[in-house]
Amino acid sequence: MVKAAESFTFQSGVTVANRTLMAPMTTKMSFYNGVVTQDECGYYHQRAGEVGAIVTGAANVQADGKCWEGELSVESDALIPSLSQLASAIHVGQTKAILQIFHGGRRTTKAILRGTQPVSASAVAAVIPGSEVPRPLTAAEILTTIQNFKEATRRAILAGFDGVEIHGANTYLLQQFFSPHSNRREDEWGGSLANRFRFIEAVVDGVLATVQALKPQNFLVGYRFSPEELETPGISFADTLFLVDHLADKKLDYLHVSLNDYQKVSQSEAYQERTILSYLHEKIAGRLPLIGVGNIWSSQDVAEVLTDAEFAAIGTGLLFDPHFVRKVLTQNDEAIATTLQEGNRDILRISDGAWGFLTGRSAEKLELLQK
Ligand SMILES: Cc1cc2nc3c(=O)[nH]c(=O)nc-3n(C[C@H](O)[C@H](O)[C@H](O)COP(=O)(O)O)c2cc1C
Repeated sequence: MVKAAESFTFQSGVTVANRTLMAPMTTKMSFYNGVVTQDECGYYHQRAGEVGAIVTGAANVQADGKCWEGELSVESDALIPSLSQLASAIHVGQTKAILQIFHGGRRTTKAILRGTQPVSASAVAAVIPGSEVPRPLTAAEILTTIQNFKEATRRAILAGFDGVEIHGANTYLLQQFFSPHSNRREDEWGGSLANRFRFIEAVVDGVLATVQALKPQNFLVGYRFSPEELETPGISFADTLFLVDHLADKKLDYLHVSLNDYQKVSQSEAYQERTILSYLHEKIAGRLPLIGVGNIWSSQDVAEVLTDAEFAAIGTGLLFDPHFVRKVLTQNDEAIATTLQEGNRDILRISDGAWGFLTGRSAEKLELLQK
């Protein structure tokens, strides 16, 4: 049996049928207030049944954590019924449903927040055109935000998800606290590496404590992170090895790196002999399973990822081909759709939101734009 086809039981007791996951991908398909739409359920349902687990797109844990229109939300109990429909849509065959929970921090705008100023660790705008200067969270607001990650976890349990993934990647609030670019605080939440890690640790511990207190049967908690930042100062790969080393000692179920290419090499000169994935795997040293991701298009790619990780997460591949995993597991690579024709967008239920993202990132794989 190929490794990709092996089942796996996480420390929480959740068993997945194979070593593949659908990477979290925002669709921007929800209603204005974060309620899940039937179109969104249909999109996930179409991709469930073969993949081990589906991680949903990011869902905000509180109103000022919203980053874009059409975003999923888990900020109130009123959203539990629609989230429950989403979990059910994903529960096809043995596929597990994992809700990604996040706060966007400074990566949002006053317009998205209907006039409220975005918040972050400090009053430093992102180095991206159009970014606004955020307001630093007060110490009391930091504690409320941690509480809201816990509440989001409670709601995910009640909605019938099999787990949550804490989104600490892609420059959102958790990463903003860890980054020396966005975190210039001089209290216990900023300054040294250990202080910049404090918010992440408090959220992780809070979420784990929530699960422990509510005792759902088999509910997992994963953590996603980005390995380094381009900014100076910014998160270095050495900082990330510190992060991973500390998180690997927590009672988490997995660590999930966010990469656009699983073969990516660090920008840090001290870590260029092997891939980022390989260094991370070495640092974790079997304490927790690692999920690799990025530019996976064949059974060979999946097999390569699985030499340096326990799981392979597939994003764009599953957008283009809902049966990507079945084809990988049967090594039927010729049948995998590696490009996307605009005419197939409706059949594949690819939303304007996902499409807009793809035209920015994977334009060379879209067969339409030139026609
Ligand atoms: C349309 C789209 C939306 C995404 N939204 C999220 C998200 O909500 N949360 C997240 O952690 N990553 C998000 N990502 C990043 C993916 O999870 C993944 O890391 C990335 O696409 C690389 O994998 P791929 O080459 O298989 O697509 C998104 C990617 C795409 C293409």
